[in-house]
Amino acid sequence: MSANSTVPSPEGAAAAVDGSPLVIVADSAAEAGRAVADRIAGVIAERPDAVVGVATGSSPGPVYRALVEHRAAGLDVSRVTWVALDEYIGLPAGHPESYREVLRRDLVEPLGLDPDRVMVPSADGMRPEDAAARYERRIADLGGVDIQLLGIGSNGHIGFNEPGTPFDSRTRVAHLAERTREDNARFFPSADDVPLECITQGLATIMSARRLVLIASGSYKAAAVAAALGGPVTPECPASIVQRHPDVVVALDPAAAERLPERLAR
Ligand code: GLP
Repeated sequence: MSANSTVPSPEGAAAAVDGSPLVIVADSAAEAGRAVADRIAGVIAERPDAVVGVATGSSPGPVYRALVEHRAAGLDVSRVTWVALDEYIGLPAGHPESYREVLRRDLVEPLGLDPDRVMVPSADGMRPEDAAARYERRIADLGGVDIQLLGIGSNGHIGFNEPGTPFDSRTRVAHLAERTREDNARFFPSADDVPLECITQGLATIMSARRLVLIASGSYKAAAVAAALGGPVTPECPASIVQRHPDVVVALDPAAAERLPERLAR
């Protein structure tokens, strides 16, 4: 595992010497997951009632599996509140690809969590816009997110904040980009079955988290990762906003890191 050199800040924040995000290039996706889980476990150990933001998709799997190991080694996760990034609109309750169900399979059951401690945005008979505003308030009422886990879309999205999303966006109803629907078609019978809309935390909501951890693996993510970390900070690549966060760690496998500028992939 290699990482670009870091300076400890007074808060112990993770940033490289030049202010760019701390990038860990691990030997494998499993190792990248372990690095991220170690950081999340550290936050929980320090604050057992932490608010931990969680993500869905394939990338977080190794993180959740490594968290199970932390729990087996004695980490108490019973008082943590878990907050999801996003949820599709239009899937019936209990649909296997709804993010509530994905989190139940990938996080709640393996970690033995109380499902009531896992918040997922849900329209649940309300106007989706109202449900989104309520979700934003619930996060604020919790005192904000202590550490937010992120994946990244092949088009540079985080959560479901697609290219063009304003940086000051809050939790809201959003449309999925066609590329995202094609990417996520692997979870559905066809791309036409992927919902068109979702509720997602906004970019400003995500940036309000005290710490960010982003994980990506596979060469399919390499261009998005390089644009997000090495390119300009622009709404055209929503993930590039993480460059402005004071405490962000990015964990990659070698394939996801293959197009990173040299200065970041040391
Ligand atoms: C979805 C989610 C994102 C996730 C992204 C990447 O669209 N809304 O939060 O980061 O896909 O998913 P994967 O990790 O499966 O590539």
